[in-house]
Amino acid sequence: MRQVQIDRFGTADELQVREVEVPQPGPGEVLVRVQAAGTNPIDYKMRDGSSGAVKGVTADDFPLVLGREAAGIVETLGEGVTRVGVADQVFGVLPFGRLVPGCYSEYVIFPEGSLSVAPAGVEVTTLAGLALAGSTAWVAVHEQAKVQAGEKVLVHGGAGGVGQLVVQLCRDAGAEVWATASTANQDRLRDLGATAVDYTTTDFREVVPLVDVVIDSVYFNTFVESLDQLVEGGRIVVLPTLADTSPAVERGIEVHIPAIHPMPDEMAQLAGLVADGRVSLEVSQVLPLDQVAEAHRRLETGHTRGKIVLDLR
Ligand SMILES: NC(=O)c1ccc[n+]([C@@H]2O[C@H](COP(=O)([O-])OP(=O)(O)OC[C@H]3O[C@@H](n4cnc5c(N)ncnc54)[C@H](OP(=O)(O)O)[C@@H]3O)[C@@H](O)[C@H]2O)c1
Repeated sequence: MRQVQIDRFGTADELQVREVEVPQPGPGEVLVRVQAAGTNPIDYKMRDGSSGAVKGVTADDFPLVLGREAAGIVETLGEGVTRVGVADQVFGVLPFGRLVPGCYSEYVIFPEGSLSVAPAGVEVTTLAGLALAGSTAWVAVHEQAKVQAGEKVLVHGGAGGVGQLVVQLCRDAGAEVWATASTANQDRLRDLGATAVDYTTTDFREVVPLVDVVIDSVYFNTFVESLDQLVEGGRIVVLPTLADTSPAVERGIEVHIPAIHPMPDEMAQLAGLVADGRVSLEVSQVLPLDQVAEAHRRLETGHTRGKIVLDLR
């Protein structure tokens, strides 16, 4: 099978497509034939060595296989697997905190608890990009900020992979949403039901009222600036894992960084919302596996819209 590997931390030039053996699943594991793999900022941060997810990695751990999420067809079941069956259409995000081989690969092994069976009628490229951004948005909106109907929410980076889902989950919860993006993405924010704020022309503090919740997927030039935008007792969730939350902590403001965990039932529910047309995940670019370096270069600009997905079919 084809697989993308890196032999050391570095630029996108380190990504190498190679032929390797198909792995076999152990107990509780599932071998998935990958049809499409989602890409995420964590992929290039793991590639260049800056992500906390590769802290402690030594030369002996290479080659590494990046890519944390995928959609595909169940090929083989390991011993004791009951949640999914052979030939099921599944999608999922690999567990963090373990350096398991990633999803830039024609076959990948998932723990069964990290996979959801997909509903009919959702594009496989959409499924591939749903699990990581979806889990993050779900944790941020429902588990950490606990957004309630009638609350006001400000979302920084509303046009990004996570941001678009955060806006929609907040709207689905009955909140009123303001979201920031550049000029080109204002239409998308409005389509998602947010009041759009163009950060290239407007200081959000001048047009957004005090809010109950800020969900910040940007951090630089937004996090500290947002603390004065919260009502008394407001909450802020900041996405980048290495964000310094001390300015909020020092002021006694409730602050969270999402740590995603397997939530196959919630992700199946989210895919159901996509199938019903109540939530949309924008896949702005689909690239073949051998253009993975191009996907990383685009992600590194910090200005991709929705998701970039690799097609392995
Ligand atoms: N803690 C976790 O578990 C977790 C999970 C997932 C992601 N993350 C982190 O969360 C961040 C976002 O992830 P993502 O996948 O959504 O990234 P992404 O899709 O690459 O987000 C890019 C978006 O950010 C917007 N943006 C850039 N600068 C902005 C600014 N100054 N103000 C407002 N919007 C701005 C861009 O919109 P414009 O092009 O319009 O500027 C673009 O649409 C990344 O740092 C990622 O590593 C953390």
